[in-house]
Amino acid sequence: MIQKPKGTKDILPSDSYKWAYVEEKAKEILENYGFKEIRVPVFENTELFERGVGDTTDVVQKEMYTFLDKGNRSITLRPEGTAGAVRAYIENGMASLPSPIKMWYMMPMYRYENVQKGRYREFRQIGAEIIGTASYKADVELICMADQIIKKFNIPGVTLNINSIGCPVCRKKYQEALKAFIGSNIEKYCDTCKTRFEKNPMRILDCKEKKCKELNQGAPVILDYLCEECSTHFENVKKALEKLGINYVVDSGIVRGLDYYTKTVFEFVSETEGYTVLAGGRYDGLVEELGGQKTEAIGFAMGEDRLIDIFEKYNETNDVKMRVPDLYIASIGKLAEEYAQDLALKLRKNGIYVEADICERSMKASLKYADKTGSKFLIVIGEDEVNNKNAKIKNMATGEEKEVELNIDEIISKLK
Ligand code: HAM
Repeated sequence: MIQKPKGTKDILPSDSYKWAYVEEKAKEILENYGFKEIRVPVFENTELFERGVGDTTDVVQKEMYTFLDKGNRSITLRPEGTAGAVRAYIENGMASLPSPIKMWYMMPMYRYENVQKGRYREFRQIGAEIIGTASYKADVELICMADQIIKKFNIPGVTLNINSIGCPVCRKKYQEALKAFIGSNIEKYCDTCKTRFEKNPMRILDCKEKKCKELNQGAPVILDYLCEECSTHFENVKKALEKLGINYVVDSGIVRGLDYYTKTVFEFVSETEGYTVLAGGRYDGLVEELGGQKTEAIGFAMGEDRLIDIFEKYNETNDVKMRVPDLYIASIGKLAEEYAQDLALKLRKNGIYVEADICERSMKASLKYADKTGSKFLIVIGEDEVNNKNAKIKNMATGEEKEVELNIDEIISKLK
């Protein structure tokens, strides 16, 4: 038997309604904040991610699905959504539209990761990007929205951690301090860290190797090196969050795994699961890096697979249920079968979920199937019922039976 590739999953009909629920609720919130959907290609030119995400990141160096297409172009399956959204913003001249641009997406992403709990090779993100504002108010609004989305799904034990990782101005001094700290031990770090030392020492703080993590203990933190502008920005964000009653913890250890971040970065971490459910931050240099005008921006992405895993744990008894048929119509004989088909069609056109036999089953098997599908009501139609335009409708939960005229309005009123 051919099996699915490692790190992918099938979302089966018995589960997909939960995904639909999460997506629908998230979408309502995103749209109430003025975000509009963007859809970008599953694959992009590899250079987009090398330049956008950064060629010294784990994502680019170790995790991308990159291949040459038949025209010898280097193509990469998108490992994240921000670079593609920004490329689309530039390429489609969206800078001339009223600013800021607010966009959301729900898209699968691809990373060749070590597969473990909450870490897949194909995973879905629900993301939001605000392009065209440098104000701390955008950070606050976006974090509020993320908080509202997380709270919507009744997930306990989620902490909001925030940090500022400054801008190229403050980073210069910080990187010197960091290099001085790491430099004395650089021989003890992993080979990847060694290659990052000169070009991007901050990436060393993001290394997942145990020995590197230990060596990083006590490293200088960027918060101590913020320039005045970045420091004021961060203070404003914190004050505004406090005023709005959004609890947060400043975690000076957050550096994020993608190179485009500047100033505010944040992660909503599930303490019970030990992973991040939603993460993001400001990326004031990315639009320019990818060939646009200098345009400040901020965004986040939520790991939908992770959210669903936790959602299932804590929402077993709530009202999110798979839809079951309102009515099953069973029929005996050719005349009744045709009548049942026509009736089912008309009821469906009126918004009723109706099942009728399409397997040429016996009456006994039909009734068994109606029961198994959890149909709420049952009507059995034979020749007499067709001729009299009258049948019995059975409430499957109570067993109660009532007479019903076989016309659409009558049936609908009985179903209600
Ligand atoms: P990220 O931190 O790489 O950021 O991913 C965001 C979220 O996607 C993570 O917090 C996690 O919930 C989920 N995620 C990441 N990798 C996996 C995986 N292998 N399996 C399952 N879930 C995963 C970004 O992708 C940025 N583009 C977010 C952003 C948008 N920043 C600004 N705008």
